Amino acid sequence: MSKSYTVVGQQRLAGRITPAGNKNEILPCLAATLLTDADVIFTRVPKIGDVLVLCDILRHLGAQISWRDDETLVCNSASVHSYEPSSDLCAKVRASILLLAPLLARFGKVNLPLPGGDVIGARRIDSHWDGITALGGRLTLEHGIKGEINHIRGCEIYLDEPSVTATENIILLAVLGKGTTVIRHCACEPHVVGLCNLLVAMGAQIAGIGSNCLTIQGVDRLHGAEHELSPDFMEVGSFLCLGAIGGGDLTIERVNIADLRFVIKTLTKLGIHTECDEKQQSLRIQSSALAIKNDLGNRIPLIYSGAWPAFPTDLMSVAIVAATQAQGTIVFFEKMFEGRMFFIDGLLAMGANIVLCDPHRVVISGASHLTAAHLTSPDVRAGMALLMAALIANGESRIDNVAQIERGYGNLIAKLQGLGANITEHN
Ligand code: EPU
Repeated sequence: MSKSYTVVGQQRLAGRITPAGNKNEILPCLAATLLTDADVIFTRVPKIGDVLVLCDILRHLGAQISWRDDETLVCNSASVHSYEPSSDLCAKVRASILLLAPLLARFGKVNLPLPGGDVIGARRIDSHWDGITALGGRLTLEHGIKGEINHIRGCEIYLDEPSVTATENIILLAVLGKGTTVIRHCACEPHVVGLCNLLVAMGAQIAGIGSNCLTIQGVDRLHGAEHELSPDFMEVGSFLCLGAIGGGDLTIERVNIADLRFVIKTLTKLGIHTECDEKQQSLRIQSSALAIKNDLGNRIPLIYSGAWPAFPTDLMSVAIVAATQAQGTIVFFEKMFEGRMFFIDGLLAMGANIVLCDPHRVVISGASHLTAAHLTSPDVRAGMALLMAALIANGESRIDNVAQIERGYGNLIAKLQGLGANITEHN
């Protein structure tokens, strides 16, 4: 049976926390370990559900993966013998799609079951297809993805959208190709940058890192490397929103402020003001009465998600909870996923004043007093949002299916208890 949390809300949340390494960086980096027979060592690794499952998938293929300590993972793919990942395990995580390119590069063949993961929308894989095909892959889709490649040949690719995992798959194939690959209109999130930095440390040649045009000069082989993951800006963004409504004073340490500038700016629309200590790379947020900042002419403002460097889709749900506590009216427009807003019914049940206009847009009028409810976590980010709502609500809430939340947020109970939350877990 899936685990649940019981939360007694309205405790003052204050103190210091340190975010774990970025979930969406370690996942493609784990896939990259298939590209060499040497050791690849990661530090600041989040011990979360998605990482544990992807490690199990790799072990099942023959990889040796072990934890040196709580945050350090040592990976070696020398004994990987299979290009057919387990369908049971792949059904648990969306990130299994990231094995497509490295298995093709390693074996010239792949037989990949369809990925699982969050049910937050259609999640097309056409950009993966276009890129891998352009590099010489032959793919078929039938109960999974079957692929073959004889020669990885460098080419020019113009992505139809800057898909994160598609960009990562294309990079993972092109680094071992013949000649030059140019990927235009590619994703440039911090986790894509992190993957590129790891591959460069392994001997790859990549120019344009951090931009939406990457130029990759293929090399014959890659070697081992050590790589420290960047702080998870989704975890930081979640705690910024929680700190703003949690009644206390919160400091978030060991962050990368450069990755957070647009998030911090966008949250000012909700009246959330973050103190940035550039020297210490820490953020401080003091909870206070929030008020929506209207646009010029007193117009209702809008927060919308988009590909980097726009506001991240993964922070929409936590920002929506913060908005319920702000005086005024604001519209949220989730442009990317059509299922991301369906957790709103949980907030409605708790007393939030929200109109769900269509699958992509909500109008929020605050501030609302939230009351406790029995909730279920639909996906990792919506689950975190509902948990935040429970933490500030009056009374005792129960949240079921919290394995979804723990797929993305490590050590969460301890972190929240350390801030003063009254939260317990049970089966
Ligand atoms: N999309 C757009 N416009 C764009 C780019 C994408 O509408 O400019 C649409 C796509 O059509 C697609 C959806 O948005 O349906 C997702 O896009 P993408 O392919 O980039 O997503 P992904 O690669 O499958 C990664 C993250 C997700 C994150 C998205 C978007 C990993 C392992 N997953 O998924 O993370 O939401 O990018 O940033 O990196 C999470 O951590 O909770 C999570 C779901």
